[in-house]
Amino acid sequence: MTLVVSADYEAMSRSGAEFIMGAIRRVPDALVCLPTGSSPARAYELLAAHGRLEPELFGRVRWLKLDEWGGLPIDHPATCERYLLDRLMIPLEVPAARFFGWQSQPEDADAECQRMADWLAAHGPIDLCVLGLGLNGHLGFNEPAPALQPGPHVAALSSASLTHSMLGGERAGIRYGLTLGMADILHSRRLLLLVNGAHKAEAMRRLAERQITPEFPASFLWLHPALTIIADRAALAETDARRFR
Ligand code: GLP
Repeated sequence: MTLVVSADYEAMSRSGAEFIMGAIRRVPDALVCLPTGSSPARAYELLAAHGRLEPELFGRVRWLKLDEWGGLPIDHPATCERYLLDRLMIPLEVPAARFFGWQSQPEDADAECQRMADWLAAHGPIDLCVLGLGLNGHLGFNEPAPALQPGPHVAALSSASLTHSMLGGERAGIRYGLTLGMADILHSRRLLLLVNGAHKAEAMRRLAERQITPEFPASFLWLHPALTIIADRAALAETDARRFR
């Protein structure tokens, strides 16, 4: 585990964007899995800006959408699909063949999970999985529970997820979450966790306890041999950073 301490959100975002580009330089056709939410938003903006300077860097990357709100029309402004299209796929001119993800209104949600599992079996493993940290320790929509699921699955959403800022206060027909599972995430060759802001200080303090429990899914990250956390000082305000070494 490597912890990079950044002064603020902007510095975290710059380090995050550099980290992602470094991974792509090493493996130009990397499979990169992406979360949504506020944590990676600025890093994605920086990647998109870099794409205008060095478009060839992104010419072979394969992108995968980590999770999706189930029940929202795919073109709804709050979908993870719309988020990633607008911030990255359209600016980087990524063709549909190199961006794979969940449908948001599948006829059969279990079949959609099987479709994702089959796709990963054929195209994985993930080279770099970027993650954000849920306030309750969730990763993607792997929510705190007595047991976690290894593969792509339909998730009952916690109130922390249903009140996520992406939704702008409206649930707009969300019925469940669709997410890669914990094994999908942990089988990634490298993991990058981006964490910023005072609102994440309690979650970081919990992560630093080094207790692996399904009641705090991010604690499973301790099992991964190649995890980098980039966190800003506000997110580390309640944590002794030495606990991450
Ligand atoms: C959301 C998403 C995750 C995201 C996480 C943190 O519910 N399902 O993909 O990483 O919560 O979001 P944020 O970065 O906005 O704090």
